[in-house]
Amino acid sequence: MRILLLALLTTLLPAQAAFLVKPYLQLGDAPRPAAQERLELMWHAEDRGGAWTVEVQRGQGWTLQPAPTFHRLEVPPLPAHRIYRAALKNLKPGARVSYRVKLDGALVFAAEAQARKPGAHRMIVFGDAADGSASQLGIAKAVLAERPDAVLLVGDLVYGMGLASEYRKRFFPVYNSEEVPLMRSVPFLGLPGNHDVPFRRSAEAAAYFAYWSLPLNGPGLRAGEANAAPAVPGTHDAVVAAAGPAFPRMASYSFDYGPVHWTVLDSNLYADWESPALKAWLEADLKAAQGAAWRIVALHHPLFQSSRSHFDDQWMRPISPILEKHGVDVVLAGHVHNYQRTAPLRFRPGQVGHRGRPVAGEFTVDEAFDGRTITRAKGILHIVTGAGGAELYDPWQTDVRASWQPWTRVFISDKHSFTVLEVDGRTLKLRQIDAEGHELDAVTMTKPSPARPPSGR
Ligand SMILES: [Fe+2]
Repeated sequence: MRILLLALLTTLLPAQAAFLVKPYLQLGDAPRPAAQERLELMWHAEDRGGAWTVEVQRGQGWTLQPAPTFHRLEVPPLPAHRIYRAALKNLKPGARVSYRVKLDGALVFAAEAQARKPGAHRMIVFGDAADGSASQLGIAKAVLAERPDAVLLVGDLVYGMGLASEYRKRFFPVYNSEEVPLMRSVPFLGLPGNHDVPFRRSAEAAAYFAYWSLPLNGPGLRAGEANAAPAVPGTHDAVVAAAGPAFPRMASYSFDYGPVHWTVLDSNLYADWESPALKAWLEADLKAAQGAAWRIVALHHPLFQSSRSHFDDQWMRPISPILEKHGVDVVLAGHVHNYQRTAPLRFRPGQVGHRGRPVAGEFTVDEAFDGRTITRAKGILHIVTGAGGAELYDPWQTDVRASWQPWTRVFISDKHSFTVLEVDGRTLKLRQIDAEGHELDAVTMTKPSPARPPSGR
């Protein structure tokens, strides 16, 4: 009996003790689709030895993946831990693939991953997320029920200061649990909001750069330079070291998913998008994406929004003409804790004053677009989707249309919600869903088919 018990314990113990954070999927530094797709699998474990292996199922058999690597992170109050990464390679585009993780030969984790789809897909977007509330969990469950292919969080990923210990407590246990097995099944993408950047007094701040793995094709920033997240030497060294090349570069990037080109921007005040370096990158990125059917920009601070809260934070407005010039269709932001949708807008900024202030200018509003019968937008649709968990802002404005800016068409701040983007070729459907799965808003955008090249006959 004792031997049996011992044998049972030996089998179970590795599984129990294996993970501090269970495996979660990231896009990794793979911005563009490929004939053989890949995903990155990350997990956190105690700082001790052990032979980790990852396998992907192929037909009846399992294929061993390249050996996992790790960075060590020691930032109080968390004990030193290891952040592991392993590639899931040679995935068929769009396939669901089974994978499993072993520690010292014992199976400790198994799940199924969604590889990037080459065409029609469902992307879910929301921000201002992990505050540890019941609302956060409610949205997470509703997101799972919508069966996304990937999830993008538009900043303020974890409250209150983007700390490693806050990720451990409020982020991973909610989005990657047995009850809500989202992050083990589909890749999550993110971007830094004002709560995710280095906080001067906290060594464990800016965990974003160490815990996420996203494309490293953004502006070539270096630590300490203008426009880079301001990590303080001597304070943030451990996080910066664990982040490797991701710090500070991973703050902005771009990627393609199906027919959509996504441009992801760090809109925090230290990043000046009027500076030649950032502006040149943005222009070049959008210019190179003209072949995509859709261009979407994601960032934390909205360019245009109506909430009384954070009204002064519309400092990203000056990039609007660049986005318009290169045919951006939708801008998705968070920061403001509610849902807002504008009419399609074009904007000419007036004099750009101090950063950190809204910018006045001239608006051209497409009054005809209704997203139902008239679906071709003349201008950019600006969406605020910051109702992903944290306490809602200005709920009273929901029913007081006179408090909205003239170009705001929908303002919902009495319910938490998230955005579902269903893209199929030249049709993009945007739906806003609440924690009960009810549809709060829906618009469809379409584009004409591209002109066919002359046949020569
Ligand atoms: Fe924010």
